Amino acid sequence: MADVLVIYFSKTGNTEKMAHSVAEGVKGEGVSIEVKKVADVSLDELLDAKGIIIGSPTYFGTMAAEIKSFLDESVAHFGKLTGKVGACFSSSALIGGGNETTLLSILQALLIHGMIVQGETAGGHYGPVAIGAPDQKCSEECKKMGQKVAQLVKKLG
Ligand SMILES: Cc1cc2nc3c(=O)[nH]c(=O)nc-3n(C[C@H](O)[C@H](O)[C@H](O)COP(=O)(O)O)c2cc1C
Repeated sequence: MADVLVIYFSKTGNTEKMAHSVAEGVKGEGVSIEVKKVADVSLDELLDAKGIIIGSPTYFGTMAAEIKSFLDESVAHFGKLTGKVGACFSSSALIGGGNETTLLSILQALLIHGMIVQGETAGGHYGPVAIGAPDQKCSEECKKMGQKVAQLVKKLG
């Protein structure tokens, strides 16, 4: 059982690379972390985590169906995720290709679950985004986001 769970879907590996950079940031703060493909996550794992970070490619300006389906199923734990820390990240093909709307669609679900989301003043305000494969700058942003989630998890105890 890890304190932070990174859940992602990735068909061609771009979002997966981001997930591992996010994990690096969490680890750097001494917080335990598990990185899992959405297909391998059981709903009950959401209950154990103090922080839940979700990554999806941008599909038609929103999250991939696999992530949406998982979030829909998470209604089984509605009311039990309140106060956990949430965050998200996305990879898209294009600037302006809908990566921000994708992040906002994920954040909506996390907020509806009563989770706590920290915004970002520098870099992606709603979470890190990659155009295709993450470059060095994006990987650093992912790492920083992981650090911030871990710091908040520690702060909230
Ligand atoms: C079904 C589908 C829909 C997509 N829709 C968009 C889109 O609306 N905007 C965009 O910029 N890229 C879109 N893409 C491209 C992916 O977001 C992009 O290739 C991403 O890096 C894939 O991430 P992955 O390598 O983790 O699978 C789409 C790709 C697929 C397969």
